[in-house]
Amino acid sequence: MAIILGIESSCDETSASICIDGEIKANIIAGQAVHAKYGGVVPELASRAHQQNIIPTVDQAIAEAKIHKNEIDAVAFTRGPGLLGSLLVGTSFSKSFALAMNIPLIEVNHMQAHILAHFIDDPKPNFPFLCLTVSGGHTQIVLVKDYFEMALLGETLDDAAGEAFDKTAKILDLPYPGGPLIDKHAQNGNPEAFKLPEPQIPDLNFSFSGLKTAILYLVQGELKKDPRFLEERMDDLCASVQSRIVSILLNKLKKAAKETGVKEIAIAGGVSANSGLRKGLLEMGEKYGWKVFIPKFEYCTDNAAMIAIAGYQKFLKKDFVGQDIAPLARMHV
Ligand code: KG4
Ligand code: ZN
Repeated sequence: MAIILGIESSCDETSASICIDGEIKANIIAGQAVHAKYGGVVPELASRAHQQNIIPTVDQAIAEAKIHKNEIDAVAFTRGPGLLGSLLVGTSFSKSFALAMNIPLIEVNHMQAHILAHFIDDPKPNFPFLCLTVSGGHTQIVLVKDYFEMALLGETLDDAAGEAFDKTAKILDLPYPGGPLIDKHAQNGNPEAFKLPEPQIPDLNFSFSGLKTAILYLVQGELKKDPRFLEERMDDLCASVQSRIVSILLNKLKKAAKETGVKEIAIAGGVSANSGLRKGLLEMGEKYGWKVFIPKFEYCTDNAAMIAIAGYQKFLKKDFVGQDIAPLARMHV
C-alpha cells in the first residue's frame, strides 16, 4: 500500500490531499479572501496566508482520510511554476515533513499536475492525448505522450485565458477573480450581442491582449453615451466575451487535433470550469468524433489532489528528490 501526502501552494490556494494507492481520500483547499479588495493576488500576502493555513490544512486532510501521519509513505509538493514566496512555504513544509518522518520527497510540476488530474477518476485518457491547459497564468496546448513526457505545441504570446477573463471582469467592474462571475452572467446573455475580434495567429499559439483592448474601447465608448451601460448590458457583454474566448481556444484545439491526428482531447486548469468551454468542447467532440475529457469542478482550479496523483505515479517509479531541492517560479511542462 502507498499513501502519498500532496501539497499545493503555487498561488493563492493552500491545499493538502491524501492519495491511497491512486485513490484520492481527502482534498482540502483553503482559499485566501485577503486578495479580493486588491483586485488580484498580492504575492507577499499570499505567502503569509500559506504559512497560516498549511498546518491546519494538512491536519484536516489526514483526519478526513482517517489515517495517522506515521502511515504516510511519501510527500509530493508543487515545485513550480508559481509565485516564489508561495512555493517556498509548500516546499519548506514538505522538506521538513519528509525529514521528520524519514520518508521520500517528490517534486511535481504544477502544469503537468493540472493535466494528470485526469487520472484521478474514470474514465482516464489513453496516451497520447491532447490537453488544453487554461489557467490564470497559462494557456497551453500539450501533447501528452506519457505521465511525464509532454510536448508543448502552442501557448499564449501575451495574456493567459484566465487573465483575459479576470482583466475583462475588471473593465466590467466585477470583483476579482472575475472568471466565474463572467460565466454566471453569460448564462443569461446573448453571445452575439457584441462583435469582438478573433486574433489571426497562424500557428497553435494564442493571443488575448487585443480582445482585452477591444472590450476596453467598447465599454469606454458606450459609457460616454449611457452611464448605465454596464448595468443594462452586463449579461450580453459577458456572454459575448466568453463566447469569443471560448472560440479562440476551441479553434486552436481543433487545429491541433487535425495536425496531430489525436482524437482523445482533454481540458484542464481553472478556466476548464467555464460552462461555455465545457459545452463548446462537448459539441466539438461530437462533431469531430473525439473522446472528450472534462475534469470534475473540484479538480479544475488549484488543488492538491492533482499533486498527490502525480506524486503517486512518481512514487511507483521511485522518482525522488533530495533535501537540496528548491522551488522554481518558472518551469516548462
Ligand atoms: O488553475 P487556477 O485555479 O490557478 C492558476 O494556476 O492560475 O486558475 C484560476 C483562473 C482564474 O483566472 C479564474 O478566473 C479562472 O481560472 N476561472 C474561470 C472559471 N473558474 C475559474 N474562468 C472562467 N469561467 C469559470 N467558471
Ligand atoms: Zn493552476
